[in-house]
Amino acid sequence: MRYHFALFAASAAAVAIGKDPKPDADGKYTLEAEGIRAQFIPYAATLTNLFVKDKNGIERDIVLGYDNTSFYPVDAGHPVYNAIPGRYTNRIGGGQFTIDNTTYYTVKNDGPNTLHGGPNNWSFKFWTVREVTKKSITFGLHDPANETMGMPGDVEATVTYTITKNKWKITIDAVSPQVKSPIMATQHTYFQLDAFANPTNNNNRSIWSHSLHMPYAKRVMVADKNALPTGEIAKIAKDNIDDFWSAPHELGFASDRPEFENHCGGGCHGYNTNWAFDDDRPRNAVVATFSSKWNGIKAELRTNQDAIVLYTCNWNDGKAEIKSTQGIEGKDKFIPRDGCIAIEPMDYVDGINHPEWGRLSKQIFGPGQKYHWESSWTFGLL
Ligand SMILES: *[C@@H]1O[C@H](CO)[C@@H](O)[C@H](O)[C@H]1NC(C)=O
Ligand SMILES: *[C@@H]1O[C@H](CO)[C@@H](O)[C@H](O)[C@H]1NC(C)=O
Ligand SMILES: *[C@@H]1O[C@H](CO)[C@@H](O)[C@H](O)[C@H]1NC(C)=O
Ligand SMILES: *[C@@H]1O[C@H](CO)[C@@H](O)[C@H](O)[C@H]1NC(C)=O
Ligand SMILES: *[C@@H]1O[C@H](CO)[C@@H](O)[C@H](O)[C@H]1NC(C)=O
Repeated sequence: MRYHFALFAASAAAVAIGKDPKPDADGKYTLEAEGIRAQFIPYAATLTNLFVKDKNGIERDIVLGYDNTSFYPVDAGHPVYNAIPGRYTNRIGGGQFTIDNTTYYTVKNDGPNTLHGGPNNWSFKFWTVREVTKKSITFGLHDPANETMGMPGDVEATVTYTITKNKWKITIDAVSPQVKSPIMATQHTYFQLDAFANPTNNNNRSIWSHSLHMPYAKRVMVADKNALPTGEIAKIAKDNIDDFWSAPHELGFASDRPEFENHCGGGCHGYNTNWAFDDDRPRNAVVATFSSKWNGIKAELRTNQDAIVLYTCNWNDGKAEIKSTQGIEGKDKFIPRDGCIAIEPMDYVDGINHPEWGRLSKQIFGPGQKYHWESSWTFGLL
C-alpha cells in the first residue's frame, strides 16, 4: 500500500507541475516563443493552428484544420489533419507483410492497400497529455496488439512538440516490447503559407505558386496507379517533373505538362510522391525549404528521416471550410482542390515489403529496440 501511495503521490505531483499551462475552453494547448505560436489538442496529437509573421508583420495561420475542436473526432473523413498517423504511415502494399515467416494481414482501406494504419489508426485516437510546459507538450498513446487491425503486439508511443524562437520541433518515440512490429510515423502537416489570403495570384488559393527546394531529393520511388511504390527507385533528371533538387521550383512548375495529370495515381494530378534523400547528406542539413513569394514566409525542414512524402491535396473536394483565422473577409471560405500540401518526412513507403531496399531495421522494431523520429521546422522570411 505504502508503495502504491508513494507512486501515486509522485505522479500526481509530476502532473500538477506538468499541467501548466492549461488548455483553453476549446481544449487547445498554446505554446509560444518569439516569432511563433502553436496550438495542439490531444485528439490524434493534432496541431490545430500555427501562427508565424509574414513580411508585413501580419500573423498568418499557415496550417489547415477546423475551428471547432469537437469536429475532429466526428469527421471520420478527415484527411489526417496535422496528426500522427500510425502505427504504420502511408501504404502497406496488398494489406499484408511478413515478419520471420509469419504473414500478417491488415485492412485494405485504400483500394488494394492499407493506408495510414487502417481502421483504429493513431490519428483517430485521443492521446494522453503526459507533460506540458510553456514551451513543450508530450502526448502518449498505448496501442494494443491488433487494435490497428492486424498489427502484432502492443506499441507504446509518445510525441513531443517543442516551440522555441521561430522553431517547431517534433519528436516521435515508440517501442514494441512484446513482438516485432512495423512502426513508421510522421507528423502529417498540411501547409498553406498564404493562409488562403493571397488575392493577387490567378491560382490564388491553390498551392501551385508556393516554392520548394529539396537539394538532397535526387531519387524517387516509382509508384503504381494507387500511389504504391513498385520497388523501382529512379534517379531524377534535372527539370523532370519530380525535380525539386536542382533548384527551387514552384510546386506547379510542371502543371502544363501532360505527365502532370495522373502523376499521383489515377485521376490525381500533382504529387502524392515519395522521394529518397541522399544517404551522404550532411547531418542536420535542411532537406526542404518551402516558401511563399507572395507573403515572404519561408519554412526550413530538418529531419533524421531518409525520405519524404509530399501530397498536393488533389483529393480535396472543396467542401471543407478554411479556419476563421484564414482567408479574406467576404471571399469563398472553402479549401479548393490543390489548396494545400502535406509535407511528411518518413522512411521509404512500404519498405516492409521491399527487403531489397535494406529498410527493415528502420521499419520493424521488437523487444529492446527503439523507434525515434525527429524533425523541425524553422520559420523566417525570404
Ligand atoms: C462542433 O462540432 C460538434 C461535433 O460535430 C458539434 O456537435 C457542435 O455543434 C459544433 N460546434 C459548433 C459551434 O459548430
Ligand atoms: C523462415 O523459413 C525459412 C525457410 O523455411 C527458414 O530457413 C528460416 O529459418 C525461417 N526463419 C525464421 C526466422 O523462422
Ligand atoms: C482511421 O481509423 C478511423 C477509425 O477507425 C477510420 O474511420 C479512418 O478511416 C481511418 N483512417 C484511414 C486513413 O483509413
Ligand atoms: C484481429 O482482430 C480481428 C477482429 O477484430 C480478428 O478477426 C483477427 O483474427 C485478429 N488478428 C489477430 C492476429 O489476433
Ligand atoms: C482566384 O483565381 C480565380 C482563377 O483561378 C479567379 O477566378 C478569382 O477571381 C481569383 N480570386 C481572387 C480573390 O483573386
